[in-house]
Amino acid sequence: MASLPATFRDETTKIHLEHTALMQMLDDLDFALDQLVCYSEVYANLKSIDDVHRYAFRLAEHLPEHFTREEASVLDTVARISPELLELAHACKRQHDELRRDLVVFCRALDNYDNSTDLEDALCQLKEQGTRFTAELKQHVQMEERELGGFL
Ligand SMILES: [Fe+2]
Ligand SMILES: [Fe+2]
Repeated sequence: MASLPATFRDETTKIHLEHTALMQMLDDLDFALDQLVCYSEVYANLKSIDDVHRYAFRLAEHLPEHFTREEASVLDTVARISPELLELAHACKRQHDELRRDLVVFCRALDNYDNSTDLEDALCQLKEQGTRFTAELKQHVQMEERELGGFL
């Protein structure tokens, strides 16, 4: 088995703690999305859309850095251990690319929704898009905790 770098344990502990923080951020975002009601009287909805905006952008601040560090410190290391872990590392990186892209698209939609001619439809789409994103990211984090559990 390939030997692990001396810093590996510290790095994996950090990644595990970041997963816990990410799941909390996703719960906050899910809660705000739940409060978002799909109707056109947007001013009544201002507080929840502000919360969704704040939590999504907080996530956008932290997620790319988490992915980059996870790839460099954990995935690239475990990929050298076995063909199965190499395949898992590739799958995780592919999901990172998709999740990064989906979060950028979601944040852009949040910045632009009030330019829409149909606010009700725009809010419904935001809610659906956001809920899909949080579910996908939660699944990704849970999969890593499960599959990399021996390392994290
Ligand atoms: Fe990941
Ligand atoms: Fe992760």
